[in-house]
Amino acid sequence: MSFIIRGALSADLDQIMAIETECFVNDAWSREVMQSELEASHTYYLVAEVEGNLVGYAGTSQLADSVQADIQTIAVRPNQRGAGIGRALLNELFKDAKRKGAKEIFLEVRSDNTIAQKLYKLFGFKQIGLRKQYYQPDGVDAFVMKTSIIKDVDAKPLVLGIETSCDETGIGIVRGNELLANVISSSMDLHSRFGGVVPEIAARAHLEALGPVLEEALSKANVSLEEIDAIAVTNGPGLAGALMVGVGAAKALAVSTGKPIYAVNHLVGHIAADILDQGKLVTPTIALLVSGGHTSLLLVRDILNDVQLLGETIDDAAGEAFDKVARVLGLSYPGGPEIDKAAQSGNPSAFRFPRGLTLPKDMAEHRYDFSFSGLKTAVARTVELAETNNEEISIPDVAASFREAVVDVLIKKAIAACLDHDIRRLLLGGGVIANARLREYAMSECAANGIELRIPPLSLCTDNGAMIASLGAQLLMAGNEPSSLDFSADSTLSVTQIQS
Ligand code: KG4
Ligand code: ZN
Repeated sequence: MSFIIRGALSADLDQIMAIETECFVNDAWSREVMQSELEASHTYYLVAEVEGNLVGYAGTSQLADSVQADIQTIAVRPNQRGAGIGRALLNELFKDAKRKGAKEIFLEVRSDNTIAQKLYKLFGFKQIGLRKQYYQPDGVDAFVMKTSIIKDVDAKPLVLGIETSCDETGIGIVRGNELLANVISSSMDLHSRFGGVVPEIAARAHLEALGPVLEEALSKANVSLEEIDAIAVTNGPGLAGALMVGVGAAKALAVSTGKPIYAVNHLVGHIAADILDQGKLVTPTIALLVSGGHTSLLLVRDILNDVQLLGETIDDAAGEAFDKVARVLGLSYPGGPEIDKAAQSGNPSAFRFPRGLTLPKDMAEHRYDFSFSGLKTAVARTVELAETNNEEISIPDVAASFREAVVDVLIKKAIAACLDHDIRRLLLGGGVIANARLREYAMSECAANGIELRIPPLSLCTDNGAMIASLGAQLLMAGNEPSSLDFSADSTLSVTQIQS
């Protein structure tokens, strides 16, 4: 929906009063009061219009030469909320107040109007007082709020993102679409002797890493916590205990600083990573996310409203398969980079390993799903058989043949999704994107099929906080309300739930 903001005219009075009485049922201003507000020389009123109809208005009062301005009122019709109209009105009022030399802006808001309070917090307002039973006839208290941060309202929001869904403790800071800091502490080494991520160890490591990672991120971005406009945090999917640490920390930060919070989806965060690299996300796009924790094929029509799961792994994640096969081959954890290295000198056709869910009968039911457990078993059997027969087996050949099987399925299914939906764009994400053969094969297959390939830098592909901050910033800039503090960690959060 597109709207315009313009100065209020006396001729708008009828429509303004209709909105006033709709929004403030019991304590609406009278027509006379509204008219004198609109006509007074020390007030500045704006209206928002959609297709010629008024949908909202807001105004300030500021005496000549005063460094203080007051927000008098703001109203947006209930059926037009959530589209950023309130934010846009306040933005313009702030600009005007700043132009006229304001250093502080005050307002009063009903204590039960949490929607308006959240909006004001986004603009840096803090509660400085309480007026008991200020609103009559219902006797509701007023919060007095003030901001001295006369923000550069055209500046993009500064968002801090917290990611703890698996074994990376990530905190990133973005300003709008721009990356300022991306600090990651991985507990991978602690898991190496177990050959895979141990959830309890990951959760504890997050707890220890969060403080130092936060400090480093703020210092890299050269901002203070006070300047941050909003906090974003991954609340799923991922490991339950690990997610809880990040969610708890983010809520504590939000409460102690009074900042709004956005609970966001980890998988959609991977997609938002691309915005930090190229400044925007071109949609629609197919996205293939492959890591130690997930293997998902997504159709993204709109990153904030329309992300669809086409398919995912029905057993192991792709990275997990690399880690498990590395173990079978006596290579260290994490297995992906080790197998990638060993495969360089191997023959990818030495062994014909199975390609999961690619037979015609599987393709009917699981066209975009993946399965790697059969492949893992086939590799293990090949290695065992050689051992039993006392035969030398070439680790580079097994690694190369295994890698080829994984990459073959991943890329062929991703390309099929692009062609089936006539979407000539493929975005890759997740730690497995580091795989040399996967990148090479993706490039050649995309080129052959006229598909534009997007691969963000690896530091943004592996799990990180910047991608979470990026998604939070997109939500905020689109006018989405912050999350209410009662959201929880959800290890199986669906990709369609972009914000909780
Ligand atoms: O996204 P990521 O850093 O986070 C988690 O899922 O935790 O991905 C890590 C996964 C591991 O399973 C690792 O073995 C795999 O990505 N990986 C690779 C390569 N580098 C990392 N897999 C294949 N080839 C690689 N070069
Ligand atoms: Zn991930």
